[in-house]
Amino acid sequence: MPADLVLAIETSCDETAVALAGAEGNHLVSRVASQIAIHAPYGGVVPELASRNHSADLRPLIDAVLREAGVALSDIGLVAATSGPGLASSLLIGDTTAKALAVGLGCPFYSINHMEGHLLSPFIEQGREVGKHVALIVSGGHTLLIEVEGTARYRLLGSTKDDAAGEAFDKVGKMLGLPYPGGPSIARLAAGGRVDAFDFPRSMIHSGDLSFSFSGLKTSALHLREKLATPPGDAELADFCASFQEAIVDVLVAKLLQAAEHSGVRLVTVSGGVSCNLRLRERIVEACAGAGLEAVLAAAAYSTDNAAMIAFAAASRRRAGIPPSSLSSDIDPNLKLA
Ligand code: KG4
Ligand code: ZN
Repeated sequence: MPADLVLAIETSCDETAVALAGAEGNHLVSRVASQIAIHAPYGGVVPELASRNHSADLRPLIDAVLREAGVALSDIGLVAATSGPGLASSLLIGDTTAKALAVGLGCPFYSINHMEGHLLSPFIEQGREVGKHVALIVSGGHTLLIEVEGTARYRLLGSTKDDAAGEAFDKVGKMLGLPYPGGPSIARLAAGGRVDAFDFPRSMIHSGDLSFSFSGLKTSALHLREKLATPPGDAELADFCASFQEAIVDVLVAKLLQAAEHSGVRLVTVSGGVSCNLRLRERIVEACAGAGLEAVLAAAAYSTDNAAMIAFAAASRRRAGIPPSSLSSDIDPNLKLA
């Protein structure tokens, strides 16, 4: 068997992730060693704890992935790792491990932008080329609208001027005393609430550009929380979460449609941790159907941080004729996608 498998490592933040893919980036095995429980008592990611745990978990995770796939290291023909954006001390663990493996195996190394991983993740199970479309990436650190011509051909249409959508979920979750991370906690409670019970702002929805702003929403959450009983009742907490979530969803859906119209595309994709949100998914599917757009949403397993998306991005880059990265390439905590 030729050594043509892709091994990818993702350690940009608090999840240690390893994946194995076929030569085309097709998913074989993807594993994530979650650190959520480790950081939960602190209400956010503690960088030193994250890198120490990456260091401890990475090697056993690589072994586990190879074992699950029934392959040996010698079957690997390409190694990839996330080089940014993210926490420097976390990125370094995956980057150096991947480079060491590439040297040992004598195979190419691709350093991958984490946001490109998210951006391409909706295509993992599609079996079609990455064509012209508009991508909405909504994660804990970023809210981006990107015009995509093909792999590695990206143009930034808009981003957030302050907080990212996931960050707004997390900060408001913390404000409400909900378990970390706030996004899934708010989404869970929102399922039983009324979306129009509280009046949250839809900042910049009609700004005429494709930028976002979510910090005003956080401030109004702080004020509206004072209307809740202490401690809040179950019904009013559900209403609060549903109304808050709806404000974010309204803005994301509106801006995605505006961006599609601006770029004249018929295809849109949505990715990143917040794309797990069921209300967002439902509203995007409905709005795109109404506007005659095709919407491809990242599968739940590829929405939050994972290495399958890094493997796919590396394979897509190789297929697009982009040469491997230098082994002396550096990580970049502030790496930009476009
Ligand atoms: O992409 P991701 O795993 O990590 C980053 O690259 O940031 O995204 C994590 C973000 C967190 O802010 C988390 O609260 C949010 O995704 N998230 C959600 C949901 N699941 C995860 N936000 C809203 N609803 C969800 N169901
Ligand atoms: Zn991410």
